[in-house]
Amino acid sequence: MNVHETKPGKAGGAAKQSATLTVDNKQVQLEVRSGSIGPDVIDVGNLYRQTGCFTYDPGFTSTANCRSAITFIDGDKGELLYRGYPIDQLAENTNFLAVCYLLLYGELPTNAEFIAFRRTITNHTMVHEQMTRFFTGYRRDAHPMAVMVGNVGALSSFYHDSTDINDQAQREVASHRMIAKMPTIAAMAYKYSLGQPFIYPRNDLDYTSNFLQMCFAVPSEPYLVNPVISRALDRIFILHADHEQNASTSTVRLAGSSGANPFACISAGIACLWGPAHGGANEAALNMLREIGTVERIPEFVKKAKDKSSGFRLMGFGHRVYKNYDPRAKVMQKTCHEVLDALGHRDDPLLKVALELERIALQDEYFIEKKLYPNIDFYSGITLRAMGFPIELFTVLFAVARTVGWIAQWKEMIEDPEQRIGRPRQLYIGPKRRDFPAA
Ligand code: SDX
Repeated sequence: MNVHETKPGKAGGAAKQSATLTVDNKQVQLEVRSGSIGPDVIDVGNLYRQTGCFTYDPGFTSTANCRSAITFIDGDKGELLYRGYPIDQLAENTNFLAVCYLLLYGELPTNAEFIAFRRTITNHTMVHEQMTRFFTGYRRDAHPMAVMVGNVGALSSFYHDSTDINDQAQREVASHRMIAKMPTIAAMAYKYSLGQPFIYPRNDLDYTSNFLQMCFAVPSEPYLVNPVISRALDRIFILHADHEQNASTSTVRLAGSSGANPFACISAGIACLWGPAHGGANEAALNMLREIGTVERIPEFVKKAKDKSSGFRLMGFGHRVYKNYDPRAKVMQKTCHEVLDALGHRDDPLLKVALELERIALQDEYFIEKKLYPNIDFYSGITLRAMGFPIELFTVLFAVARTVGWIAQWKEMIEDPEQRIGRPRQLYIGPKRRDFPAA
């Protein structure tokens, strides 16, 4: 393919040049479009019409399926920007609800905007009282992600006034409801698993402190939020809020492209996040550290991770985009130390295993050559366990944080004039036409 200069093209991805593709001795011109930063894209929307061929890219390693102005990752530099702001600066200088505002509306809120937004979200934190009845249908030992998939999808059976995706006002209310109600439903799932009564939201607490009290308070005594834990969890929510077109976000976009209501789309995102290759990796990483158990056993597991036939991978390591250290993992590791210090768990044996495993892996040729670094899930499990969350709740916490990213990307998709229903094609490798056998 040859790429050369040409006239400006479509807005929001101006074409500065075109590419020439030769297929069966036929040359076709494809527009090359540029964003504000990051790789250009070759627009193949007319490729099938021009050449009779599809592109083929299982896993979408080289495929952009949308335009977006929300989040940008530079995998080689290990950089993550939310609306242009570096993740480490946001994690250090602001709070999760302000980041929700930034992701939804594109700018950091003024003080007045933040106060109004916080009041809006606070006033949506309660769920319809009849939702409590859904829980009685689940086993107490049901995985809380199963409960989240079911109950979040069921929100659409209550909030008919925010399911019309073509109404901007309803899209906004649905976004606010999702951000506000996810912590409440997550805490209810946790309480149900314990056999403890549900704890109602409190409007006098900030978003993350409110979530902690809904999880850990009991009616029989006052509950005091630990400010160090609340600040640390708020920072963890910021780290998990959005991440370009990852598997679960792409699932939300694809579901939304058919016109499905936002609650059903978020439920689909939760289902996708559950997988151990994605959001389920924080739970899998802690289980792996527990299985390793001691520093002495690390070489045995590193050897297994390098043996393809073992099927074993170091959970919390590697990333499709980051071929450098995940910037979130750096903040996560710092937060992990702060929380363990604050709770007196400095000598947590699993932290010792994690730190030594990271040290060994980062020096090992296999991991260096394949550019495998710790990702956000490597230290999050140790931190969340120290905070008192059960391992089964780790991915639920990821879903609580990622809801704002999912809903911001969903809104952006609905409002993008270029967006159409997502309907990939295939490379068919099945039987050619054949007739049903005569009797
Ligand atoms: C998240 O996409 C996102 O942005 C996701 C996320 C988000 O915020 O939304 O960042 C959250 O999901 C983080 C990733 C959490 N998953 C894990 O920690 C699970 C363990 N990691 C992997 O399974 C894997 O690294 C992935 C799924 C994360 C990335 O998979 P890719 O990009 O498809 O890479 P790959 O599977 O093709 O692996 C490339 C090579 C392979 O070897 P070769 O076939 O090239 O010889 O690296 C090897 C793999 O075998 N490899 C690993 C490894 N991860 C990749 N070997 C050992 N241990 C690992 N963890």
